[in-house]
Amino acid sequence: MRVSIIGTGYVGLPAGAGLASKGHDVTCVDIDEDKVNAINQGDCPIFEDGLPELLEQVVSQGTLTATTDTTNAVKNTDITFLAVGTPMRDDGSINLDIIKQATRDAAEGLKEKDDYHVFVVKSTVVPTTTETEILPILEQESGKTAGADFGVCMNPEFLREGTALHDFLEPDRIVIGELDDRSGDTLEQVYNGFDAPDELHDSDGHRSSAFGDAPILRTSLRAAELIKYASNALLATKISFINEIGNICKELDIDVYEVADGVGLDHRIDRSFLDSGAGFGGSCFPKDVRALIHFAEEQGVEPALLRQTIDVNVKQKTKLVDQLTDRMDVQGKKIAVLGLAFKPGTDDIRKSPAINIIDALKTKGADVHAYDPAAEDNMRELHPDITYHDGFEDTLSDADAALLVTDWDEFNDITLEHIRTMNQPLLLEGRRMDHDLPDENTDGITWP
Ligand code: UDX
Repeated sequence: MRVSIIGTGYVGLPAGAGLASKGHDVTCVDIDEDKVNAINQGDCPIFEDGLPELLEQVVSQGTLTATTDTTNAVKNTDITFLAVGTPMRDDGSINLDIIKQATRDAAEGLKEKDDYHVFVVKSTVVPTTTETEILPILEQESGKTAGADFGVCMNPEFLREGTALHDFLEPDRIVIGELDDRSGDTLEQVYNGFDAPDELHDSDGHRSSAFGDAPILRTSLRAAELIKYASNALLATKISFINEIGNICKELDIDVYEVADGVGLDHRIDRSFLDSGAGFGGSCFPKDVRALIHFAEEQGVEPALLRQTIDVNVKQKTKLVDQLTDRMDVQGKKIAVLGLAFKPGTDDIRKSPAINIIDALKTKGADVHAYDPAAEDNMRELHPDITYHDGFEDTLSDADAALLVTDWDEFNDITLEHIRTMNQPLLLEGRRMDHDLPDENTDGITWP
């Protein structure tokens, strides 16, 4: 099928390359001309595992091209995915300005088309947005009628940063919110032959028949919108839940990871997203939970649990600093911060606990020294006045304490020799690592 995708960020580009690799003819659209030029040369402008190789391949085969011209991209394709950003306003609500502008541009293309076209909202939008904000713009600006001249779908993404391409190609499920059968049937054709992840093999290692293909769920437009928010809110709540249990564990000298393993063996609960630590960050969980809180309030529903998910997380982010200041006055002390990205495998620092930790350390007068294998440049923009190092060895040397904030694999290579180069040999861990350091030199945020 001829597919256009508006937005070449963490969602649009993996989706574009993924669909091109499945045999579709893909046109990616972005307003950023530099990005479009880079993509057309096969250069990947974002940090995503496997994406540079696949992008180079599909661009050289001619199955993916990029353009700044939304109208023509829509006009010359059969289906359009809207995958632009939905930034958060100060009050937690989502800002639809970018979505609306992109929709207006797309509607111009619809206007010039004679054939049936399906418009698919992939951006995360609160329930009813597709029906009440996007669909009317499409109709007004194109002069056409939804359901007759064109179809509308809402197709949320569940991509994790760093593994977005893999998640796109092997989804747990595909949710198709549809205006009508014809819209949904057309979108379902795009996802023909998408497998579920390998983890969903049965106990003998065979792909379970139930999961041969990724399950496709057809819903209303607004249910699809809410499925995205409910999924992220539940995952975020699992993390805040295990962090609260972890804070109890810490008081009792219990290892929260033993507790999580025991709890997670119950198949009704599942072990995933029960890794306790310094809290969740990233571009999705904090923003989406806040947006859902704001939306619930607008509906007159008190989102008590969701508020607690955020509150627990806010406190958790600086708990390591509290634990450090219980042990020492950090004024003028060299404190090493290991890891700045909100999770390993990305250079993204959005809502990373490292930001709150550095803020708190600076407020208390500490001399902050930081290292991250990928996210240093991004953190420099926010905190230009701390000292950055090229490796953890340097960062630890002569430090009065170290805080481990992101679970990059390389931090498992920290040995007692490295710890002995510190002024005071103490590593406080905000993420669970797999190393052989002695107990007297380490302490966990929610484990002994
Ligand atoms: C998340 C969702 O997983 C994805 O489906 C959605 O589309 C976007 O938001 P992402 O933000 O890329 O993806 O990262 P994820 O791997 O889910 O981790 C989010 C945060 O939670 C990270 O800060 C991570 O360190 C933290 N986390 C995750 C925990 O603290 N404990 C866990 O058990 C899992």
